[in-house]
Amino acid sequence: MSGPGHDALVVADLAVHYPARNGPPVRAVDGVSFALARNETLGLVGESGCGKSTVARAIVGLQPPTRGSVKVDGAEIVGASRAALRAARARMQMVFQDPVTSLNPRMTVGEAVGEPLLVRGIARGAALRERVAGLLTEAGLRPEDAGRYPHQFSGGQRQRIVIARALALRPALLVCDEPVSALDVSVRAQILNLLVDLQRAHGMACLFVSHDLAVVRHVCDRVAVMYLGRLAELAPRDALYAEPRHPYTRALLAAVPEPDPVVQRAKPRVPLVGEIPSPAHMPSGCRFHTRCPMTQAICRTVEPEWRQVGSSLVACHFAG
Ligand SMILES: Nc1ncnc2c1ncn2[C@@H]1O[C@H](COP(=O)(O)OP(=O)(O)O)[C@@H](O)[C@H]1O
Ligand code: SF4
Ligand SMILES: [Mg+2]
Repeated sequence: MSGPGHDALVVADLAVHYPARNGPPVRAVDGVSFALARNETLGLVGESGCGKSTVARAIVGLQPPTRGSVKVDGAEIVGASRAALRAARARMQMVFQDPVTSLNPRMTVGEAVGEPLLVRGIARGAALRERVAGLLTEAGLRPEDAGRYPHQFSGGQRQRIVIARALALRPALLVCDEPVSALDVSVRAQILNLLVDLQRAHGMACLFVSHDLAVVRHVCDRVAVMYLGRLAELAPRDALYAEPRHPYTRALLAAVPEPDPVVQRAKPRVPLVGEIPSPAHMPSGCRFHTRCPMTQAICRTVEPEWRQVGSSLVACHFAG
């Protein structure tokens, strides 16, 4: 089923617990729910180790979840048969942080970009070459680049090759995991703008994973803030940056440098104290209570419910 208003991605109570040889399992993802519409980019942010990549990998079927549901374009992928998963994989593509390991060094750019079309019997021969030339152009490369090898390109150009390949099957959903974090600062904006343009041009849904709140602000319509395997807050972009509701969101934003020095000096300092606890030894009650500047007695024992405050969804007893 598809059509206007139909969600391209629905994630419900997703959990991924990695078994540990000695000790309790690592609850990397521990009950995450959100939906993503066509034509929409959702940012998933949080500190390193909070479970963002595990969410991304579970959505595209690279990591079997412990529980929960992932529907892409209406089709359930958790527990799906191999054939159903293969069909679903054509509808979603992933762009990883490191374009070097994402590309086979022995394949030419043209072979890499054309492979999904060839393998699925969609195009071959001259038609395939034409499709590849079109994809390279869309990603800001030249059709002549098809005959070259990945090592002949810079990091930014290689990420363009990866993006061209991801677009080959015209996916409904693009999952990008830190797509510019490994790139030189000077080329990050170009790649981000390319992703925004392509997402709009194709009406894709895009899940954009990043630890960098400044990057997410630049590309996303809504933002989900993740902490230790759960969402702390989910809000429209402008609401999240102007009026963060969760103490963790406020702490993350306080750490983002403000380009305007006057605004920067006026910004409240809410330092994020301590290390992120281990997801194998989850704090009781609100999982942020060991670091939250607003902790009360109830926070240590009762897990906060997910509730609507203004235009945000937030998991905090005291958010208002
Ligand atoms: N394959 C794995 N086996 C065991 N633990 C893992 C594995 N992958 C990730 N983890 C752990 O799960 C947690 C979340 O990791 P990850 O999803 O990579 O977070 P993020 O992308 O936000 O940095 C971390 O504690 C990490 O060490
Ligand atoms: S529930 Fe308590 S510990 Fe958790 S974020 Fe809110 S105030 Fe902080
Ligand atoms: Mg990650």
